[in-house]
Amino acid sequence: MTRASAPGKSILFGEHAVVYGRPALAVPVTQVHADVDVTASPRAGIWIHAPNISLHEELSSLPSDHPIASAIHNFLFVCRVSPFPSLDISITSTIPVASGLGSGAAVTVALIRALSSYLSLDLPNEQINQFAYEIEKLHHGTPSGIDNTVITYARPVYFIKGQPIETFTVGAPFTIVIADTGISAPTKESVGDVRKLWEADKTKWETVFDEVGEIARTAKERIENGDWRLLGALMDANHSLLQQLTVSSPELDRLVETARRSGALGAKLSGGGRGGNMIALVEKDAAAQVSEALMSAGAKRTIVTEIANG
Ligand code: PMV
Repeated sequence: MTRASAPGKSILFGEHAVVYGRPALAVPVTQVHADVDVTASPRAGIWIHAPNISLHEELSSLPSDHPIASAIHNFLFVCRVSPFPSLDISITSTIPVASGLGSGAAVTVALIRALSSYLSLDLPNEQINQFAYEIEKLHHGTPSGIDNTVITYARPVYFIKGQPIETFTVGAPFTIVIADTGISAPTKESVGDVRKLWEADKTKWETVFDEVGEIARTAKERIENGDWRLLGALMDANHSLLQQLTVSSPELDRLVETARRSGALGAKLSGGGRGGNMIALVEKDAAAQVSEALMSAGAKRTIVTEIANG
């Protein structure tokens, strides 16, 4: 049996503007992960078992644009695997779906990595990332590529669409609390709505994207210098720009407010928005108190994670 895993991710700064070429910062979240096991199957065919989504099917019976089927087809085609081996592929994930933690990209990365290692191809990260990006397009429409990149490399990433991957050093570790609104919100929709705004008034929204990009650039410097406490104000500023972009929601705003009132240094939504997760920057010893306040304010669950070098 061959097993591969991939972590969840959180976007610290720059979501949405990143689709328009501005920089964004994202970090892996190792408390949640997707895991894929590949074994030889006694039955002919490629059998996919994904109990989280009640999927137990042979590859050829899945629609060709199904993200899992399409990842496997792409992989077998590009790597010229012939004839197809008989396989049992088991996919599990602790990453909540459609909540901004990168569940789709993590499943693809773990799947490609497990297949590549089972077939002794050992693809480099660069190629795994490329496969995962192609599948992200099925999930999202016009993804920037930030999710698949941070998840493939499992390191903090300063991401600019179309540019070579740039990791960065965390000068001093810091803690964030991630809280889930429990509302599942497809990123494709919020990204589509931002596009409509932008198409209606490019000058106005380009200025907003510039401001978001400037926040991400400043945040990177502060993280590298170990000045992480200064990220709080940047999170607050980024959240209000995301509100202007209409991708927040009453539930996200309530959790963001609660985090600030219960001792966080700053807070913002994270990812596509409208639902999914928010993040709050905290002193390590305030994490429990902020988590509790978020749960009392309606969060479905929280994850406390330390951001450090990978
Ligand atoms: O919803 P998530 O966590 O997959 O994040 C999407 C991030 C966006 O910037 C909104 C879209 C993208 O492709 O970068």
